[in-house]
Amino acid sequence: MRTVVISGASSGIGWATAQRFAAAGDHVVNLDPAEPTEPGPTTWMNVDVADWAAVEQAVDEVHRSRGGLDVVIANAGISIRRGVLELTEAQARRICEVNLLGVLGLWQAAARRMLPARRGVLLATASVNGHRGYPFYADYNATKAGVAALCRTFALELSPYVRVACVTPGAVLTPMQRAEYTDQMLAEVNERIPAGRHADPSEIADAYFYLASDEARFITGQEIIIDGGETAGATTAILGAADRGQAPRP
Ligand SMILES: NC(=O)c1ccc[n+]([C@@H]2O[C@H](COP(=O)([O-])OP(=O)(O)OC[C@H]3O[C@@H](n4cnc5c(N)ncnc54)[C@H](O)[C@@H]3O)[C@@H](O)[C@H]2O)c1
Repeated sequence: MRTVVISGASSGIGWATAQRFAAAGDHVVNLDPAEPTEPGPTTWMNVDVADWAAVEQAVDEVHRSRGGLDVVIANAGISIRRGVLELTEAQARRICEVNLLGVLGLWQAAARRMLPARRGVLLATASVNGHRGYPFYADYNATKAGVAALCRTFALELSPYVRVACVTPGAVLTPMQRAEYTDQMLAEVNERIPAGRHADPSEIADAYFYLASDEARFITGQEIIIDGGETAGATTAILGAADRGQAPRP
């Protein structure tokens, strides 16, 4: 039974990933300020990943009570749909604190315990938006490119003992996506995905389960893109009308 810590596992991708590991018999701890939307066989700790002291305390508690730490998945992330002329300093700072520094703080706390033990796997959720421009999410997109950059440097510093990798999803049907897209916008997104649909969160969870396993023992410092082919052929040139919109000109 592995000890697995996942941030943002009260909903969406994190929740599905927690279920995937728990179903395999692993002990799963969820760091999230929100209570899980559905009950599950995981331990919930009320932790905001932007608060490094709280993260350090939670990781220390799990490490001590379980006698080790096997897998840590920095999945928590937020987004706010705003054009570059409208986004506020407070919003942009919060997105960086959660999506980028939240990964750095959690990975650092975990690595400080994994490296002396000479074992462990660090994973995080990036996004294909870290590879391309995507209107209305400038700050979010930058944080996701940053997560992939963190992954490469952590992998170099922690090899050969601790592996580090990112899962990089395209569109996944989760509460995050539902909060900012109408049904019509979701249908437009489906049209430009070669697979013809959004991913189910369980499909991202399967990738996490593989990356954490010994079968992925030669994978470190890399991203695995799971996007139904969305970025295989083109990027912004085929954005649908819902996403192509220009910020209003002053
Ligand atoms: N849904 C998509 O299409 C998609 C695509 C690419 C990447 N992602 C990424 O996947 C991850 C999960 O997103 P999701 O779609 O499942 O969203 P979601 O909103 O369903 O779940 C996000 C979870 O993170 C938690 N969270 C928010 N702020 C937090 C904080 N400060 N500390 C700890 N937990 C916090 C929320 O309470 C929630 O449980 C995010 O990093 C997101 O950027 C999502």
